[in-house]
Amino acid sequence: MERLQKVIANLGYTSRRKAEELILEGKVKVNGETVTELGTKVKISDTIEVENTILDNNKNYEYYLLYKPREVISSVSDEVGRKTVTDLITTSERIYPVGRLDYDTTGLILLTNDGVLTNKLTHPSSNIEKTYIAKVEGIVSGYAIKKLRSGVLIDGKMTSKAKVKLKSIDKKNNKSLVELTIHEGRNHQVRKMFECIGYEVLKLKREKYANLDLRGLKPGEYRKLTNKEIAVLYSMVK
Ligand code: URA
Repeated sequence: MERLQKVIANLGYTSRRKAEELILEGKVKVNGETVTELGTKVKISDTIEVENTILDNNKNYEYYLLYKPREVISSVSDEVGRKTVTDLITTSERIYPVGRLDYDTTGLILLTNDGVLTNKLTHPSSNIEKTYIAKVEGIVSGYAIKKLRSGVLIDGKMTSKAKVKLKSIDKKNNKSLVELTIHEGRNHQVRKMFECIGYEVLKLKREKYANLDLRGLKPGEYRKLTNKEIAVLYSMVK
């Protein structure tokens, strides 16, 4: 038997402190009954429901942060036999990527078997920030940076405001490096944003996703998320 708030936190739903608040607010049910006592002990076989979401406490949830290399597909399988992100992670659980990076995009991608978190993170309303570094052909003008910041029309819809920084220019080779932070996740969004203002993206890397970055990892390497990182992700999508 474990304390309810600890079980909620361990299942990665939120931090222990936030779980206590949810219990006190009457947002937690055990076996269908609302529980507002902080010391309540629960068994692994009990059904725990938080904010109308049933937590699967028999399931072994796993959360990985992968530094995706180029030429790997963000999927669990590929009909033409290309390498997938799940090929790079050793686990017996059926994990899948949270969202997508293009075949040629490198960088941070999460993988998990936690469907609740995946749905919340990938929902259009989630507002999770993603930071990309794009190497583009040409010298990006101040006007182009302003346009990217304020929004451009792709697939008939304006993009939301973005944070955009011109990191460097290489006059000799006619290339620029641009950092973009967006919170939408439309298909090929960054490449299309540049295309719209007349620049071709030559290389694209996702450096940050929500509270996470690639520190300590090389392309193809991965690590498990810590309980704290999982709780922070949950808190960001509430
Ligand atoms: N935007 C793109 O164009 N490609 C990616 O892989 C990610 C964001």
